[in-house]
Amino acid sequence: MTARPWWRGAALYQIYPRSFADSNGDGIGDLPGIVRKADYLQWLGIDAVWLGPFYPSPMVDFGYDVSDYTGVDPIFGSLGDFDELVTALHARGIRVVVDFVPNHSSDRHPWFVESRSSRTARRRDWYVWADPAAGGGPPNNWESYFGGNAWEFDPATGQYYLHTYHRTQPDLNWANSEVRQAMADVLRFWLARGVDGIRVDVLWILAKDPALRDNPLNDQWQPGEPYWHRQVRRYSEDQPEAHTHARFIRAVIDEFPDRVMIGEVVLPAERAVAYYGVAQDEAHLPLNFSLAELTPWSPQTLRAAIDDYLGSLPAGAEPNWFLGNHDFERITSRLGQRMARLAQVLLLTLPGTPLLYYGDELGLPNGRIPVDLMSDPQAVAFPERSREAARTPMQWDTTAHAGFSTATPWLPVSRPGAKWTVGQQHKDPASMLSLVRSLLYYRAKNPALRDGNYAPLPVTDPRMLAFTRTSGDRGVAVVASFADEVMPAPACPDGQWTVLLSSAANNDPQILKPMEGKVLEMTRHTSAAGERQAGIRS
Ligand code: NOJ
Ligand code: CA
Repeated sequence: MTARPWWRGAALYQIYPRSFADSNGDGIGDLPGIVRKADYLQWLGIDAVWLGPFYPSPMVDFGYDVSDYTGVDPIFGSLGDFDELVTALHARGIRVVVDFVPNHSSDRHPWFVESRSSRTARRRDWYVWADPAAGGGPPNNWESYFGGNAWEFDPATGQYYLHTYHRTQPDLNWANSEVRQAMADVLRFWLARGVDGIRVDVLWILAKDPALRDNPLNDQWQPGEPYWHRQVRRYSEDQPEAHTHARFIRAVIDEFPDRVMIGEVVLPAERAVAYYGVAQDEAHLPLNFSLAELTPWSPQTLRAAIDDYLGSLPAGAEPNWFLGNHDFERITSRLGQRMARLAQVLLLTLPGTPLLYYGDELGLPNGRIPVDLMSDPQAVAFPERSREAARTPMQWDTTAHAGFSTATPWLPVSRPGAKWTVGQQHKDPASMLSLVRSLLYYRAKNPALRDGNYAPLPVTDPRMLAFTRTSGDRGVAVVASFADEVMPAPACPDGQWTVLLSSAANNDPQILKPMEGKVLEMTRHTSAAGERQAGIRS
């Protein structure tokens, strides 16, 4: 019997390092800043932290353009600071997952500098180079996610290089075995340093059609939809070899015991789950974008998204969920405060591994970013799709700049005022922070919530969503109402419910307040009231 891996059912917390805590007063968050907040993370009750990129980088894509895969950018600190961070989090029982950006480097990376130096350079083939099309111009019609054609002409050598993202982010050539070996060594470097897992950036894009065929146009595309859906990316992503590369990465991670591989896979559920691998030898957790991309947000679309996703999972695969991240708008702005509370209830009670985005535990809304501060390459190309709104500083207290920094932060705080701070919300039992912390507490404590079987619970009104989680003799139900009026709660199928927790301060198990999400437990199985008193301290 092997022990249950730590990441199954674990609650992950995503930190955007620039925006969590600034230790040295330059307005930019850093690794020692995160160390200072280690007690907060432990208090909150998360199991693991996923750190966005902190590697040396020109920061065109805020760290997703890496110029040295095995260093720490001086903005964020040093390797010594990184080691201290791992030690501090491990000492508090918190695991550490780091970002790994294998699809592209920065154009300042010495590998690319060498690759572009001549057609015969030793590392020429480490990137994706191609001749101009027959009549001149780019080799094919592939589009960059940051706008325009994905090929950049290099006058010195007369060829184009591929950049799926910004032109300063050339795509590495994963068909080249030296590239794969170099990237394996990068992984080993961080795994040997004690990280507990790796989040692989754009895993599904690592392989490209060797013949570089044109992508078909998407004739369903409507203005207003994300521009990156204008093409059906048939040949530029989700190629069979991407699975070969996923297995390769997994094998390296498996050289170290007890590590997790998380893969970014922005695809419809049935294609995303293929990245668990036929023999479950690819990502442990191919990220599930269904909730983050759900439009409209309604009980019908949610039920369909949950059923679709759970229904397409291979046996034994661990589900995962998140509401947003550094690439999406804030969940509170998407749904409003009350619905965002309901959404946190769902996130932290659905079966599997949830990923919580920093600041969402305070219900932070989108920041209002002055145009002159917008430097996200996606915002530069498409201002209506700025990702900066969700990257504003974490708000700690009522001192200057919300306690994030002693200097003007790189992005303004989302909303000034005590209401939006950890300092205020931790004292307030009705706050979003108290709700999220209680949810995390019950997840950790109650085996039904953490590992229990999932089953939909029939509801009598289409404006409701409900499911049960059961483990041995423990059972809970999660019921959510999307209605604007008070509704009767679904009947307990077996026994009587008591309220463990409500997003709307409602202790009555019989009714649901407008937009309430609630966790109910069978009274006959356990003394929920006693547990509540013993567990939650502020
Ligand atoms: C996905 C990351 O989440 C995003 O922030 C980044 O811009 C692209 N990958 C390119 O690395
Ligand atoms: Ca700093």
